[in-house]
Amino acid sequence: MKILVIGSGGREHALVWQLAKSGHTLHAAPGNPGIQALAVCHAVAVDAIEGLVRLALELAVDLVVVGPEAPLVAGLADKLRAVNIATFGTGAAGAQLEGSKAFSKQFFARHQIPTAKFFIATSVAEADAAIEALTRPQGGGCVVKADGLAAGKGVVVAADAAEAKAAAREMLDGRFGAAGATLVIEQKITGREVSVLALTDGKRLEVLPPVEDHKTIFDGDRGPNTGGMGTVSPAWTSDAVLARVTREILEPTVRGLVADGIDYRGVLYAGVMVDAQGTPWLLEYNCRFGDPETQPIMARTLGDLGEVLLSAARGELLHGALAWDARVAVCVVIAAAGYPATPRTGDAIGIPTVPADVEVFHAGTKTEGGVLVSAGGRVLGVTALGISVTQARERAYAVVDAIELAGKQARRDIGARR
Ligand code: GLY
Repeated sequence: MKILVIGSGGREHALVWQLAKSGHTLHAAPGNPGIQALAVCHAVAVDAIEGLVRLALELAVDLVVVGPEAPLVAGLADKLRAVNIATFGTGAAGAQLEGSKAFSKQFFARHQIPTAKFFIATSVAEADAAIEALTRPQGGGCVVKADGLAAGKGVVVAADAAEAKAAAREMLDGRFGAAGATLVIEQKITGREVSVLALTDGKRLEVLPPVEDHKTIFDGDRGPNTGGMGTVSPAWTSDAVLARVTREILEPTVRGLVADGIDYRGVLYAGVMVDAQGTPWLLEYNCRFGDPETQPIMARTLGDLGEVLLSAARGELLHGALAWDARVAVCVVIAAAGYPATPRTGDAIGIPTVPADVEVFHAGTKTEGGVLVSAGGRVLGVTALGISVTQARERAYAVVDAIELAGKQARRDIGARR
């Protein structure tokens, strides 16, 4: 099969790497130097929607797999389907689950999906009233979210009402442009997070192995949030918790999408908080594969991923066609100096020969005059398989330590808490 993968991150490198195992002919736009070893890369940016449609038509691909959220929110999948190209990725209507926090919270409420109590605010007065209502009874803080896409920075978990009000003002004053003109203000739920991703054709689900992400830049969950500094799959969650996530969150979501007339063919990525009683609460949906959640999932995937994604794109999901390596996968992200605030780019990268069961997925890299250099905040994702978390960690960190990148940052505690 001829497949075009849209995107240029570690997620897309991992997808291409797994698709290549089944012998598919691969193209990517725009791709990265790691992807280039496995696929023909085309210099078309992810926001060049018409250019991507033209490219897919010119290549006469059998399937397009869309990685990032922005082109999905912009309707790329709709445009590809309109010219009869099978596409794994939701249309713009479904992408609102990620593209609009207000839409998604109202969707959860409408379909009785367990989620934190919330208010929607479009003015400082409404925001202050919502913050008072959520914090006054018991003190403590709440969560303030910009409605639209804000490059992963539009969520503030405020420790108290004053911090929440300041965050709300900043967003309403235009910190994230139009994305912050509407806010979702919600109750803070405490517990432990897990990412549960599922493939869907809009009717059926293939739930992928759960993953734990490590979101902050420093060990011990300290420091500012990032796109994700490392992941472990399977996650710490029990089968019973995963069954509840499927029954109480994912299945009602698919029923809700059908009821609302939204034809959703792609990934449902649930960010879930499991409280002390073991009850799962849906924090948010993403409408695409997670990054770096995809790296360990792909490392553990057995079966022809391309056929399964095509079946979902056609609305006929081949349920049960994938299996999962019983080993544990750990992905440790190597980030550039200065990430997440102001990542430094242009530093030379040296990657050693890596042992079997370890893959180095490229994210923010490019070649300049034949030299591999850093080109973004998250640079590489070292992903290792092992018979235990301990072994997978040892294998991953041995390669992390051997990679040369001036000022490199990597958390040392990925997978350390089980
Ligand atoms: N790992 C977080 C995300 O993909 O949004």
